[in-house]
Amino acid sequence: MLDSDVAVLDDPVGESLRGRHGHLARRLGRAAGYLPQVATFSAVSADPDPAEWADLARLLGRGEPADLFSHPATPPADWKPVFSLDGFQMIAPAGGLPGRPEAGPDAEVVELGAGDVPEMLDLAARTRPGPFWPRTRELGTYLGIRENGVLVAMAGERLRPPGWTEISAVCTAPEARGRGHAGRLVRALAARITARSERPFLHVAAANTGALALYERLGFVIRKPVTFRGFRTP
Ligand SMILES: CC(C)(COP(=O)(O)OP(=O)(O)OC[C@H]1O[C@@H](n2cnc3c(N)ncnc32)[C@H](O)[C@@H]1OP(=O)(O)O)[C@@H](O)C(=O)NCCC(=O)NCCS
Repeated sequence: MLDSDVAVLDDPVGESLRGRHGHLARRLGRAAGYLPQVATFSAVSADPDPAEWADLARLLGRGEPADLFSHPATPPADWKPVFSLDGFQMIAPAGGLPGRPEAGPDAEVVELGAGDVPEMLDLAARTRPGPFWPRTRELGTYLGIRENGVLVAMAGERLRPPGWTEISAVCTAPEARGRGHAGRLVRALAARITARSERPFLHVAAANTGALALYERLGFVIRKPVTFRGFRTP
């Protein structure tokens, strides 16, 4: 893999909105964002000028949240900072995650569809893996594990820069933790991603040491520290 192939991970939102997620994008000039209910992330160019920030503000509306994800650009002074969260971007090694290959379709792991969205929203609200909205499922494949018919764990595909797929919304209900559910779901997604000749990557908050340890145990390595920032448009 060339350095340029990895460089797309420096702007994963913009690369997704311009490519695989073009059908889920709204744009004005060079500014872009996901459709409401899909994701809150916005994208601007590497060095946005005032006109581009004005376009993004018009695209999002007055006094609206502007989630820049890990983009390092700082908006004009009248954009109010709302949050700043340190984290890591992690990547799977070329060739996929190490260790035992998936033995085949796992009976416990099911693909989640439109009819599962209420349960997915409920699980995300209980476990807070990161932003999850009614249409987030449309970004990729979401897998789940049910115990006695109840959805207790899920994980799915989010950002899709060329050659890569981000694994996201990894969560397990508190009463079902420590049974390997999250590990199994991440492995299942990673196997699917690797099978289509892409590489898995993900993001984790630096303070989320449990999830960080889980991803390292699975074979992900830290590519770089990132800071997630959100603002409010003027
Ligand atoms: C992080 C999270 C997804 C882990 O879910 P989980 O299903 O408990 O994860 P796993 O069971 O696969 O692995 C977790 C731990 O259980 C252990 N474990 C795995 N299988 C086990 C088993 N059969 N018996 C006992 N322990 C087991 C693992 O060793 C792992 O321990 P370690 O990583 O601390 O060494 C869950 O805690 C969660 O939902 N947290 C809140 C949301 C969140 O932060 N998501 C991540 C966003 S990036």
